[in-house]
Amino acid sequence: MNDLAVDARAITKSYGDGALSFLALKGVDFSVRQGEFVMLVGPSGSGKTTLLSILGCVLTPSTGSLSLFGRSVTDAPTSALAALRLQNIGFIFQGHNLVAGLTVVENVELLLELRGRSHSAARREAMELLAAVGLADKSERKPSDLSGGQRQRVAIARALAGSPPLILADEPTASLDAQAGLMVTTLLRDLATQRGHTVVVVTHDNRIFHLADRIVHIEDGLINDRREH
Ligand SMILES: Nc1ncnc2c1ncn2[C@@H]1O[C@H](COP(=O)(O)OP(=O)(O)O)[C@@H](O)[C@H]1O
Ligand SMILES: [Mg+2]
Repeated sequence: MNDLAVDARAITKSYGDGALSFLALKGVDFSVRQGEFVMLVGPSGSGKTTLLSILGCVLTPSTGSLSLFGRSVTDAPTSALAALRLQNIGFIFQGHNLVAGLTVVENVELLLELRGRSHSAARREAMELLAAVGLADKSERKPSDLSGGQRQRVAIARALAGSPPLILADEPTASLDAQAGLMVTTLLRDLATQRGHTVVVVTHDNRIFHLADRIVHIEDGLINDRREH
C-alpha cells in the first residue's frame, strides 16, 4: 500500500503541433502524500498551471502517468474523467471565477447539486462551509458585493464542498494584499488539514511560503530538486 494522494511520473505536455509545438512540461515527477499541504512554486511561464490542470484532470498529459489515491487516471477512459474529477477534486482557479449572477450560497451549492445532493442538503452543507470561512452573513450577497479576500474565501468553501479528497489552488493570493493573502492561505490550510484533505497550492507569493508543509520548485517545465529555500 502507498499513501500517495498524487503520483505523477515523467509527465510531459506539449501545446500545439509540429514546428509550432511548445513543450511546457519536460518530464515531471511529482508526488504528494495524503494530508500534505504542498506549495508548487516557480516563475511565470514555468508550467505551474499546466501541471495543476493535469493533476486536476482538466488537461491530459502528452506522455507520462498519473495516479490519484492509488488509481490510474492516465489509464482511465476519457469518458470517466469528468466523474473522476467530480469525486476527487476541488479546484480553486486563478481569479476565483465565481458565477456573477448567483448569490454566494448558490455558488457553493452548485457543485454539491452536481454531486447529487438534494437542494436542501446542498443548502445545509453550503451554509455550514460559509460559516467555516466566516461568511455566513454574506450568503445572500452577489460576489460583486464582496472584497477580493472574501471572494477567495467563497472559492475555498466551494472547493471544499462535497469534501473532495484533493484540493488544488492556482495562485489563490495573487490579487490579495499581504494580510488577506495570509488569512486566506491559513484558512485553506487549517480547514483542509482538519478535514483530511490533501492540498496543492500553486504560487509565487513568497509571503505565504512559510505555511507550507513542503515546497516544490518548478522551473522551465522541470522540477528543480536541488533548489534550497
Ligand atoms: N494553451 C496553450 N497553448 C500554447 N502554449 C501554452 C498554453 N498554455 C500555456 N502555454 C505555455 O506553456 C508555458 C507554461 O504555462 P503555464 O503552465 O500557464 O505556466 P505558469 O502557470 O507557471 O505561469 C508558458 O510558456 C505558456 O505560454
Ligand atoms: Mg499559471
